[in-house]
Amino acid sequence: MGSGIFITGTDTGVGKTVITAGLMTALLKAGIDAAAFKPVQSGAKRTGKGLVSPDAAFYLRAAGVSARESDYSLYCLEQPLSPHIAAELDGITIVKEPIIKRCREYLDRHRVLLVEGAGGICVPLNRSGFLMADLARELDFPLLVVARPSLGTINHTVLSIKYAQMTGLRVAGFIFNNLRQGAGLMEKDNAEMIELLTGVPLLGMVPHLPGLDVDGGIAGPLADTVGQYLQLTEIGGLFDECAGSTAGRMG
Ligand SMILES: Nc1ncnc2c1ncn2[C@@H]1O[C@H](COP(=O)(O)OP(=O)(O)OP(=O)(O)O)[C@@H](O)[C@H]1O
Ligand SMILES: [Mg+2]
Repeated sequence: MGSGIFITGTDTGVGKTVITAGLMTALLKAGIDAAAFKPVQSGAKRTGKGLVSPDAAFYLRAAGVSARESDYSLYCLEQPLSPHIAAELDGITIVKEPIIKRCREYLDRHRVLLVEGAGGICVPLNRSGFLMADLARELDFPLLVVARPSLGTINHTVLSIKYAQMTGLRVAGFIFNNLRQGAGLMEKDNAEMIELLTGVPLLGMVPHLPGLDVDGGIAGPLADTVGQYLQLTEIGGLFDECAGSTAGRMG
């Protein structure tokens, strides 16, 4: 039985897909059998094969894995809106059971499962008040929070982490993504302050990687470079820890 990690972010567009694909690629390169899953995709692309998830397609493209996009996604919703309303417009109600069932199947087959949320931690999946945070709790996966490194991130990141902690989730770490000019005074201080205020460690700083385009399916230098920017030993320790306890496993 594998271990899971839930990749969330402080906002939509912060780089959850880039980090999920990067982590999956780095793990596969290290000989660890990893898979990634996007249970709910808003703004899915309409193709001849129906609606497909650009995020799931990007995982496959970046990691060079041959599978179908539909293997790595579940609810593909056409409108680029919050999942609760995007689903309504498609005549669907999102429920947790098929998501959990699919995660169990992945955990039976893979050492590590990376599950990417949609938007941030308080995004609603339906009108019953079921949030992304509730899904992470049902799965009992620790969280990795992807954040912007720039001005404003202390507030957004601390709010996301504190909410998660206050609602019983374990936050394993946060990652700064898309640094434009390396880590200067502000970026370093932002990371230090978030660590100080939350007790959660920074697990990587990923620079802006030119040419990378998730929606266009272009992974650019991601596969060859991402491993050096992530604290893989600490992230790997998370799996070991998960493997030895109930955290990161579903009951
Ligand atoms: N490190 C990076 N270097 C270059 N471009 C990046 C980087 N990180 C993210 N981007 C770009 O920013 C955009 C948003 O990133 P991404 O799709 O990973 O965000 P997301 O948090 O997964 O969004 P969503 O909430 O829609 O799932 C993408 O087009 C991607 O190409
Ligand atoms: Mg994404």
